[in-house]
Amino acid sequence: MKCFPAISKRTMFIYFTLLFLLYLFYALNTCLVDEKKLTQKYLFIKRHISNYKNVPVRFASLLGFHFGEVNKYRISPVPIKRLPDALIIGVKKCGTRALLEFLRLHPDVRAAGSEVHFFDKYYHKGFEWYRNKMPPTLEGQITMEKTPSYWVTRSAPRRVYAMNPSVKLLAVVRDPVTRAISDYTQSASKRPTLPRFEDLALVNSTVGWGGIPSVVDATWPPVRLGIYARPLRRWLRRFPRTRLLLISGERLVADPAAEMARVQEFLGLKRVITEKHFYFNSTKGFPCLLKSESRSTPHCLGKTKGRNHPHIDPTALERLRDFYRPFNERFYQMSGINFGWP
Ligand code: A3P
Repeated sequence: MKCFPAISKRTMFIYFTLLFLLYLFYALNTCLVDEKKLTQKYLFIKRHISNYKNVPVRFASLLGFHFGEVNKYRISPVPIKRLPDALIIGVKKCGTRALLEFLRLHPDVRAAGSEVHFFDKYYHKGFEWYRNKMPPTLEGQITMEKTPSYWVTRSAPRRVYAMNPSVKLLAVVRDPVTRAISDYTQSASKRPTLPRFEDLALVNSTVGWGGIPSVVDATWPPVRLGIYARPLRRWLRRFPRTRLLLISGERLVADPAAEMARVQEFLGLKRVITEKHFYFNSTKGFPCLLKSESRSTPHCLGKTKGRNHPHIDPTALERLRDFYRPFNERFYQMSGINFGWP
């Protein structure tokens, strides 16, 4: 005697399909309604996948192979492009390239090679365009980029916050007087007919002592960019102070290892970049690298970094120092760091 004489194969198929669709509807519904559950499900699946992912590693270690290094840098099977976890937002001519090149020594840091300018010039292209500009990273590695103009872009804090409110921000700052001279030197290298620094930085028909005009032109970009307190206020309106690391450009030259220790701690990285990565090149007058990700021989940053500055009239320098003093004081107060600029 047959148990289910009335049910044909076709009917059973229809029942199963209906049941499956019902389950699918239920599962989707709970996921969509309850985002927390969705995250939990995702984590559950991810945990299981990672368990299986580790099987070959565990098996190999049973056979006596050492995978310590692999585990230390949290291996992931496929590197993928991700939005940045950290940004070097400025300041122009303060040592931003040096900071990025030093950070690149770390195996857990991957950075876009050139400045992306997403938050100032290309925001309209969207986050997918930005993500595509990033290097592929393994899980656990930090994705970074540096674009110094973010520091002074009014909309940048809001836009960066929209991308990720937990992003880590780094800014290198340097004595604004030397920064201005460095900025000018860069422009003069492209335009040899540029007037003297003193003639651009100082204006006024009233000629002061030594034939130097007496008023600092705060509208001239190389001067204006050295007023760090204003952009800092804008960034701190969006981000807590703990999310922004201010790096001394002077210390990055005088003691790169010590400054990089602070940077690694801030980024939650193991301290891998140390004294042994640097040597002082007396010809260049700057610290250089013994080896890096791309080169195994000692090398310095390119010749556009660490240029010789022109001689500037001491009176003009004094005027500029007097001009910046109150702004520097405000910057020290807001940042909680006294950079000790003269
Ligand atoms: P100068 O070329 O005027 O000396 P940025 O990378 O933000 O454009 O900054 C350039 C400045 O970085 C250089 O300005 C230089 O003073 C400074 N710098 C810091 N560390 C350096 C290094 N190890 N090698 C070369 N320049 C360095």
